[in-house]
Amino acid sequence: MRSAGSARTAKFRRLSSLIGLAMLAVGTIACGPENDANMLRPKGKQAKQINDLLFWPVVIAIVIGIGVAGLVLYAAIKFRHKGDDTVPKQVHGNRAVELGATIGSALILAVLAVPSYALVQDLAETPRGALNVEAVGKQWWWQFRYPTDNKPVVGEYSLVTANELVIPKGRDVRLNVRACDGVGASKSGIADTSCNVIHSFWVPALNGKVDAVPGRDNKLTLTAPLDYGPHEYAGYDNAAVYPGICAEYCGLSHANMRFKVIALDPEDYEDWYSKLSEPLEALPVDEENNTSGLAGDLLKKFSCVNCHSFNPTQTLHGPNLAHFASRETFASGKWDITPENVRKWVQDATSMIPMQSEGCAESSFGFTGTYAPGTEVSGERCVGMPSYKEEQGDIPAMTDAEASVIADYLLSLK
Ligand code: CUA
Repeated sequence: MRSAGSARTAKFRRLSSLIGLAMLAVGTIACGPENDANMLRPKGKQAKQINDLLFWPVVIAIVIGIGVAGLVLYAAIKFRHKGDDTVPKQVHGNRAVELGATIGSALILAVLAVPSYALVQDLAETPRGALNVEAVGKQWWWQFRYPTDNKPVVGEYSLVTANELVIPKGRDVRLNVRACDGVGASKSGIADTSCNVIHSFWVPALNGKVDAVPGRDNKLTLTAPLDYGPHEYAGYDNAAVYPGICAEYCGLSHANMRFKVIALDPEDYEDWYSKLSEPLEALPVDEENNTSGLAGDLLKKFSCVNCHSFNPTQTLHGPNLAHFASRETFASGKWDITPENVRKWVQDATSMIPMQSEGCAESSFGFTGTYAPGTEVSGERCVGMPSYKEEQGDIPAMTDAEASVIADYLLSLK
């Protein structure tokens, strides 16, 4: 039989290893790389206001937390089991303590509500002279649309991009955040039924989250500071890069749904904007379906142009590819644009990002000659880019050489 002493030692050992593990876990989290996606190290004006608001609630919570933990510890030691079998004094409630705790908590919450409400109102205001951009959550990437003449309402666009939101430093950017709205869903006129999904747009260093809800236009203002940088982006060397994430579960590749906000010096932004909104010299496949060059033939052969536009002002279902190689990342912002990655993606996208398009391609190709995101195939909804690794219906498998031609063409689109 073990003595009480050795049982106590074993208990103590177990407790100390638990505490050790907890400390290790906290330490590991704290040691993560600094990637500018930290709401506690805010860079934007709005994120700073939110962070300032957080200060007093955290201080009050720490004080109350320490108080409660201290009292629990005190009671556990003072009134611990002392080896006799006497029943301790039975206590049923204490009106003064209960009333005090209830009224005290209500008062603290009421006081904290005042600055919170004021800040919510403040952040909701539409700033004057803001740059208007639409951010559209798709499965699983973000489309960014710059309205013609900076109009605040939905309509015509002078530039449509994906995954990387480029903005000027120092200027308020008013985002209209919406869920995939089916605007220009597909060239073949197929309705985009993959639009009934909620996403959440979040750039932790710049502002709080806002949901992208089907049928709603939600607003968010981002203001990148003038004095923060410098990274190199698309040939501009004073760029600030702020990582963003989708913060609402939205299906299979939710965790891959990343994006970046890139803030450029105001004159660099103007330069970027005029370059990007310029049409390509020749479309690989034009409106009449005439192709130019080998890449054009292949983009038509594999139906790429049904979902992807090479006209920088057009919104089709898939990411606009007009100036593809001017970006740093592709595929939900998860992969860097490198020749290897792009070639692999073109041929076998689902091996790089899980998508629901496997098994969907065959029937939609077979009947309509197009791949249709949103179609239902044996109860499964097709979302995302298909894999061309194997033959599907009318569409033959894509050879390595064909994938290289398409990838080289995409990489030439600066
Ligand atoms: Cu989009 Cu999660």
